[in-house]
Formats: sequence, structure tokens, C-alpha cells
Amino acid sequence: MRVQGKVALVAGAGMMGPPGGKLGNGRAAAVLLAKEGARVVAADKSREAAEATVAVIKGNGGEAVAIQGDVSKETDARRMVEATLEHYGKLDILDNNVGIFLSRDIIDMSEEEWDHIMAVNVKGIFLMSKHAIKVMMNSGGGTIVNISTIWAQQPSPGAAAYNTSKAAVMALTKCMAVEYAPYGIRVNCVVPAVIDTPLFDSVVTPEGKEKRLERIPLKRFGLAEEVAQAVLFFASDESAYTTGETLLVDGGMMAGYPRFF
Ligand SMILES: NC(=O)c1ccc[n+]([C@@H]2O[C@H](COP(=O)([O-])OP(=O)(O)OC[C@H]3O[C@@H](n4cnc5c(N)ncnc54)[C@H](O)[C@@H]3O)[C@@H](O)[C@H]2O)c1
Repeated sequence: MRVQGKVALVAGAGMMGPPGGKLGNGRAAAVLLAKEGARVVAADKSREAAEATVAVIKGNGGEAVAIQGDVSKETDARRMVEATLEHYGKLDILDNNVGIFLSRDIIDMSEEEWDHIMAVNVKGIFLMSKHAIKVMMNSGGGTIVNISTIWAQQPSPGAAAYNTSKAAVMALTKCMAVEYAPYGIRVNCVVPAVIDTPLFDSVVTPEGKEKRLERIPLKRFGLAEEVAQAVLFFASDESAYTTGETLLVDGGMMAGYPRFF
């Protein structure tokens, strides 16, 4: 058990899509952290989705509670952290998994669309972390895991708001890591590429999937369970001397191209 006795708050622990199908990154992380001994607070904008994740964890014999909240609102962020303390008495791990995607060229994007992506993907991590850090500072430390994407560093056209927000997540990871390292708080970032989740299914056509496969050296899409393994590593004491770091879960995409010549 790699996080035995720890309490983990997973923001965005629900998921889109039908029960029993592919997992989203948030649910996969919540389920794995619970399997590895953590008591989990599954937080999500959708109460139903959070409760469904709790049902999976309990079905596996784990311990979890669901809470509804919107990470882009400070009152909700504070409430989610407070609820964690009320239920389990402490907070050791925060997984900032929430991220929303928008396919939109810059000249077609409204100010409201831009602001919404930034509010959820960047401000959400700031707010959740702000309130979690205050608790962790008083309890001797903790770990925060943020989720970015390779598109933050190697953008594909048509998703400037998303890609920019995820680059901010990487910068924020380093800012938080250096600011709170003296308090025993570690902050790291998981950087997935193409992960076969219900969200991915909802935005990419079968032809689009074929095209994307050609670009992946390992010749397959990643699984949410594989992203969860990276979250678990940063959440656990196995990464005790690592902070401000990123870990690619990308099938080799950032290393280079599949055979070209
Ligand atoms: N799926 C991919 O291919 C992929 C690739 C790279 C990065 N990511 C990142 O992984 C993370 C999870 O993505 P996913 O596709 O696995 O989704 P997911 O299945 O983990 O679902 C995300 C959850 O976040 C919740 N949510 C949305 N807005 C919220 C808000 N304001 N407050 C609280 N909860 C909210 C949704 O209800 C949903 O349950 C995101 O940060 C995403 O950007 C995904």
C-alpha cells in the first residue's frame, strides 16, 4: 500500500461517459489512490459523477466520500478542503485533475470562452491549492499533483485557450513548489498526451483517432489508469525528494516522431 493512512482530495474525481466504460483521469486516480490505502474525498462539479466514483471505490473495499463543488469558485474550493478535514481530520494529497477543453481558433474565440477556460483550468488550481496549502502548512506538509498536457509545450492549432491554460499550470506548479518547499509541501505535474478517456471520445472522430495514432511512437493511446500511476508516484513518499517536476505520460510523443525515413 503506497499511500496507506493518507487522505487524498481529488478535484474532478467524477467523469463523463457511462458507468463500466473507460475511466477518466480523475476517477482512475481516485480509485488507484484508494486501492493503495488512501481515504479519498471525490470532489466534482457533478455530485452524481462524484458519487459514482465513491461507489466504485467502496465496491473495491475502499473508503471515500463524495462532495460537490466548482473549483473556479473560492467559496467552493474552501468548502471542499474544509469538508475533507471534517470527514477525515487531515489532508495529505491534493490531485488537481479538473481541466476543460475547448476546440476554437483564436479569431473565433469569445472573451467569455477564454475567461471560462482560464477560470476553471488555472484559477481552479490556484484556489484549490491555496486552501489545501494552508492546511498542509499547519500539519507538516503534503503533496499536490497538477495535471497539464503535452500541448502546453508543443501546441496543436485550434486549442489556444486550453494549451495556454495548461502552460500556466506548469508554471504554477513550479511557483508553488519553490514557495512551499520550506513547509514540506511538494508540488508536481503530470503531463499526459493522448489518453483514451470519455472526454477524448467526445471530441475526436474515429478518423481523427487514426491520424493521431500515426504520431505516437508507442503506437497506442494512453489509459487513464496509466496517468493515475504517475499521480500515485507524486502523491506517495516514493517521490519524497522531487518537487517542481513534470512527468510525461505520452507514449514517447515528446521524445520524437515515429520512423520517418
Ligand atoms: N483525456 C486526455 O486525453 C487528456 C490529455 C491530457 C490532459 N488531460 C487532462 O486530464 C484531466 C482530466 O481529463 P479527463 O478527460 O480524464 O476528464 P475526467 O474524466 O477526469 O473528468 C473531469 C471531471 O472534472 C469535472 N469538472 C469540470 N469542471 C469542473 C469544475 N469547474 N469544478 C469541479 N469539477 C469540474 C467534470 O465534471 C468531470 O467529472 C484534465 O485536466 C485534462 O486537461 C486529459
